[in-house]
Amino acid sequence: MIEAKNLKKIYKSGLVETPALNGVSFSIGRGEFVAIMGPSGSGKSTLMHILAFLDRPTSGVYRFEGKSMNELTDDQLARIRNKRMGFVFQQYNLLPRTTVFDNVRLPLIYSGLRKEAVERLVREALEAVGLSERINFFPNQLSGGQQQRVAIARALVNNPSVIFADEPTGNLDSKSGKVIMELLQKLNDKGHTIVLVTHEKYTAEHAKRIIQLRDGKIISDEDVRHRRLATEEKELVK
Ligand SMILES: Nc1ncnc2c1ncn2[C@@H]1O[C@H](COP(=O)(O)OP(=O)(O)OP(=O)(O)O)[C@@H](O)[C@H]1O
Ligand SMILES: [Mg+2]
Repeated sequence: MIEAKNLKKIYKSGLVETPALNGVSFSIGRGEFVAIMGPSGSGKSTLMHILAFLDRPTSGVYRFEGKSMNELTDDQLARIRNKRMGFVFQQYNLLPRTTVFDNVRLPLIYSGLRKEAVERLVREALEAVGLSERINFFPNQLSGGQQQRVAIARALVNNPSVIFADEPTGNLDSKSGKVIMELLQKLNDKGHTIVLVTHEKYTAEHAKRIIQLRDGKIISDEDVRHRRLATEEKELVK
């Protein structure tokens, strides 16, 4: 469903050119749970922005569900993004003067669904993240972990095929971080593809596959399911 071929990204500001991606190729199939790891500045967020149609590569080909980004207009990208993708960022990115209900409703504004259907979907999404009781709260009345759960509800409300999460636990204590990871895990179990950028080992442990970036290049791409199985077996023996 995701196919990247020789993606390059060079940021230009004035005369300064910063290469951020230096030829990245991989594909991700439906239902995968992939963690993208690597040191600060290695190009993780840059890659994520391209995958999520928030930025275009300088060169290379990116296909999402068979459609090449190069052949799509900005409007078409926005429409696909709205229907097929969900996002979770490190800084929650909730609208501050907007209730939890209205924040989660945002991706459905242009869905053409009736009011009742929208309301049901928003309630279901909030139920899935355990925040039904906070539906009329404002973001500043919630803890960081709760705000991130609202962001996850917003990401899943349009039933996207893929959820992109860029350091979703970066601002959270490890206990709230674990709750977020369990939610992403549950979504993956239900069939949503998850692409996660992370620094933290405990979050990467949910992934079935880990892609390591360094200096804008993939230095390893590893199936880690066997590692997880081995750990689970050890736990069973204990
Ligand atoms: N808008 C921009 N303009 C110019 N350079 C940028 C821009 N965004 C990122 N860069 C540069 O591109 C490189 C990759 O940045 P990127 O944000 O993708 O790294 P990252 O792996 O996400 O790092 P971190 O772990 O710190 O979030 C860095 O050298 C950065 O300075
Ligand atoms: Mg980043």
